[in-house]
Amino acid sequence: MSAGQFRIAVLASGTGSNLQAILDRLHGGPEGIVVAAVASDKPGARALERARQSAVPTATFPLGDFPDRPARDAALADWIDGHGVQLVVLAGYMALLSPAFLKRFEHGVVNVHPALLPAFPGLDAVGQALAHGVKVFGVTVHFVDEGVDTGPIILQRALELPHARTREDVLERLQAVEHELLPEAVRLIARGAVRIDPADPRRVLLEP
Ligand code: GRF
Repeated sequence: MSAGQFRIAVLASGTGSNLQAILDRLHGGPEGIVVAAVASDKPGARALERARQSAVPTATFPLGDFPDRPARDAALADWIDGHGVQLVVLAGYMALLSPAFLKRFEHGVVNVHPALLPAFPGLDAVGQALAHGVKVFGVTVHFVDEGVDTGPIILQRALELPHARTREDVLERLQAVEHELLPEAVRLIARGAVRIDPADPRRVLLEP
């Protein structure tokens, strides 16, 4: 581990296109950001393959290998800590993290969600938004707290799609936004440009 590095871990359960965006846009670049570890709860996740292709250490922590979720998350946290990580990025990680894990990385876990929170938290945000008939969709990057997609918001971007009909159409457009917004949030955090407002812990202050 060399000085001036900002080391992140990425947790992903699925395809890993957001992980790929981070690898392509940030990993080993001039900002000193290094993807030091990638972990999944799903041994077959494509994200793991993407990490291996970039020579990033990987590990899997399926719930079935542990007595319960806190035990799984403790092992996961130990593994992440062992890689000297300063930030944990959830990029399509489909398991809830236990309170003890979040306490260990306080204000050190971020997530990307395909909706303009607080609208449509949880699973199938795009399906929820379509069912509601919204005209404006969007992406949120937020700190993770103990709730489901309830933590303080770091960045958001809206996307007007007044004629959208299918999940596939919307997801394709939103993923392009995610692939910019999530790396941008990590870049800002690495630069020290993101902090919680001491006067109001719900607010995230961004340095200009
Ligand atoms: C993204 O749409 C993200 O918003 C959600 O899960 C999806 C992960 O996609 N949390 P990918 O695995 O990064 O392609």
